[in-house]
Amino acid sequence: MTSASAPTFPRRILLGVTGGIAAYKAADLVRRLRERGAEVQVILTEGAARFVTPLTFQALSGRPVRVGLWDEAAEAAMGHIELARWADLVLIAPASADFLARLAGGLADDLLATTCLATTAPIAVAPAMNQQMWTAAATQANVQTLRTRGVLVLGPGVGSQACGETGAGRLLEPSEIAARVFASDPSTGSLAGRHVVITAGPTREPIDPVRFLSNRSSGKMGFAVAAAAQAAGARVTLVAGPVSLATPTGVARIDVETAAQMYRAVHAAISDCDVYIGAAAVADYTPGCCADNKIKKTSDTLDLHLEKAADILASVAALERRPFVVGFAAETTNVEAHARAKLERKKLDLIAANEVGAERAFDREDNALLLLWPGGRKELALKSKAELAHEFVAFIADRLAAVAAGV
Ligand code: C5P
Repeated sequence: MTSASAPTFPRRILLGVTGGIAAYKAADLVRRLRERGAEVQVILTEGAARFVTPLTFQALSGRPVRVGLWDEAAEAAMGHIELARWADLVLIAPASADFLARLAGGLADDLLATTCLATTAPIAVAPAMNQQMWTAAATQANVQTLRTRGVLVLGPGVGSQACGETGAGRLLEPSEIAARVFASDPSTGSLAGRHVVITAGPTREPIDPVRFLSNRSSGKMGFAVAAAAQAAGARVTLVAGPVSLATPTGVARIDVETAAQMYRAVHAAISDCDVYIGAAAVADYTPGCCADNKIKKTSDTLDLHLEKAADILASVAALERRPFVVGFAAETTNVEAHARAKLERKKLDLIAANEVGAERAFDREDNALLLLWPGGRKELALKSKAELAHEFVAFIADRLAAVAAGV
């Protein structure tokens, strides 16, 4: 059990519990949050109050629980606007598909939704629902809207569900939700005070004014890592190739197109960098110079002359004052052997390897990683890229501390 520590951010948590079978786990979550020194005020939606009772939460939180918007006595004690102002953080766990839709839509049709609209505090949601409801296009669009607005999305986890199905949609364990909530503190997060530079996405190497060489990278993994590093308290600079992804809240983004532009942007950003993460799929070869006019199909064959592009990752690792350097290795065969060779050849501190191919890694929502570092290895199992990114960032913070301690 975590011992009660001095209250840090978030000291006052408004915990919204919405209607779903996972609501019973929110009772344990109240305990976990209080163990860490937070005051917890619970709001149950009408649906949640059908699964769990206000009395349970009152006993655990030590505060009267709010359910309806129209409770005159409760509104007189602490009205919904006061509740919204009181909170350092609004945490909704479990967050049902219906509630995510209402939050994304900006509705104010019950106490919890109204309070979310009225607060200036950060909002975190821990979704829990049937796996089909989670993957439904409407839910995914709502979650994307919420992420773009800066809502921290915790989970969901993957596994067996109360409905008998298996997949993504389980509420994260209360201990993990509590840990993640406190890890988002810019003064105490695992990367607090660190500057992290991340590259993401593909590069485009122009051949002529209308054509280019590129690859299948979607940028999703790199963007998820940027969001996770920011949530762990880091100042994050994200150097992005051409992708159609929203910038994670609080992250400074620099858009580039070619490998040469990415090289320059990275070296311009890196002087005070503590951690460099090369998640971009940078061109290995480039035509170098682009034809002035569109190449005409006048001959049966066409030879393209390609030159090797500068290796950005290796160049960062070769700096005299170098940050902690993390690379990626996307491999189709012999993943571990190729990745370890790359770790050594490029003199990296850590490499994240994954198998790629038609069905794997590119433009998918989930991923698995094999982490390799000098003298060690660790597997991170298949999960959503957002979840995986949080584990990955937590591991980077651990390795950073171990290297600083000479371990
Ligand atoms: O050697 P390979 O391209 O497989 O290495 C992949 C790693 O190197 C990734 O971290 C990628 O971001 C980085 N890289 C780079 N510059 C290049 C090619 C790859 O930084 N020109």
